[in-house]
Amino acid sequence: MNQKSTVIVTGGNGFIGTNLVRLLLESGQYHVINLDALTYAANPLSLEDLDGHPDYEFVKGSITDRQLIDSLFEKYKPMGVLNLAAESHVDRSILSADDFVQTNVVGTYTMLEAARMYWNTLPEELKQQFRFLHVSTDEVFGSLGEDGFFTEETPYKPQNPYSASKAASDHFVRAFNHTYGFPTIITNCSNNYGPYQFPEKMIPLMILNALSGKSLPVYGDGSNVRDWIYVEDHCKAVKLAFETGKPGEVYAVGASNEQKNINLVTQICSILDDIAPPIEVPQLRDRGLKSYAELINFVQDRLGHDHRYAIDASKVQRELGWKPEVGFETGLRKTIEWYLSNPRWVDQASGGSYSEWIEKNYAWRAKKEAE
Ligand code: NAD
Ligand code: DAU
Repeated sequence: MNQKSTVIVTGGNGFIGTNLVRLLLESGQYHVINLDALTYAANPLSLEDLDGHPDYEFVKGSITDRQLIDSLFEKYKPMGVLNLAAESHVDRSILSADDFVQTNVVGTYTMLEAARMYWNTLPEELKQQFRFLHVSTDEVFGSLGEDGFFTEETPYKPQNPYSASKAASDHFVRAFNHTYGFPTIITNCSNNYGPYQFPEKMIPLMILNALSGKSLPVYGDGSNVRDWIYVEDHCKAVKLAFETGKPGEVYAVGASNEQKNINLVTQICSILDDIAPPIEVPQLRDRGLKSYAELINFVQDRLGHDHRYAIDASKVQRELGWKPEVGFETGLRKTIEWYLSNPRWVDQASGGSYSEWIEKNYAWRAKKEAE
């Protein structure tokens, strides 16, 4: 008899989703249904090796499609949902928030409502076991000054269209728990890094730009601070919260690893200088670069750029026994090595619609360079 629990993961083809689906399958505890719309941020190669896996099924579709979601609950009778599907890039949300409202707000509401209707039909014992885990972000809390940390008690104060849409989705999740007793759990995590991250995000962008000799666009004066966590550590916290978290609870997740953007870019350059020196990269050989750091370029700032994020993760550590396992030096090196070893994935992610999108929308990032 199959003792595995069936779960629906949304956004499983994205960066965190790919790592989470792998973790769930490696545990041997789950049968995973991955519902993903395959937007620009999804790379079909990320989970290509799972084709034919007996505990993995992929469904292409949107979390805004109520009929489809109802049919998945009916067919698979899952014991929970891990909701990761989202539009996730702040710069894109500043250009237009339409897709962010649709997926993050309407989509999360649609998943919640479909899940609640299904949950209502369950016998009491299964009702008790069911969980809806919503993966959210520390950005909903706004921005910190030089001191202090975000905790589960920090008031919401989103300051960009992406974080506003995530805050709205969190509020729906909280409201469904309070109003209907629907068993939800929210995790609010800091900046993730690691394998399979789409190259528009800071760390892969800097790695891949450096390796192709392009400039490294640091926004403003580079003094903004982010609190970085290795993606596998985040996924372990999500799995643990799903399995042992208390319904109605919120867990702030972070690895106490604050970095100023400029320092982070400098570290990336120095690891690259060590493992892939410019003189050994065929397309850079004639550029006379001694270090990738020579490519650093301070550009116009992001509109409304939040200054600092930092998480106090003591609740998830104390109550669920979670702690981060991957140190930053090690994680950053592993990440850089992963991008160097996966050129097919990188080509697929960096080409086509993404390179056209950059040409069209990121002119401001080259401004200072051109001045
Ligand atoms: P991502 O952009 O890499 O992946 C998002 C995935 O969602 C993609 O596979 C995409 O195809 C899918 N998707 C988008 N719209 C959809 C829709 N309407 N229906 C179904 N699928 C859809 O994002 P990520 O970085 O992996 O983030 C995953 C989740 O974690 C998001 O909810 C994000 O807000 C949250 N989060 C991210 C970070 C981070 O640092 N990346 C930190 C904290 C929280
Ligand atoms: O804090 C969690 C959030 O982290 C997640 O909810 C988001 O989904 C995720 O995208 C991330 O948001 P950020 O805006 O912090 O990540 P991003 O990689 O876009 O930028 C990180 C920092 O680097 C930020 O201060 C802006 C800066 N930056 C970014 C890019 C892309 C640059 O200086 N240059 C760049 O080219």
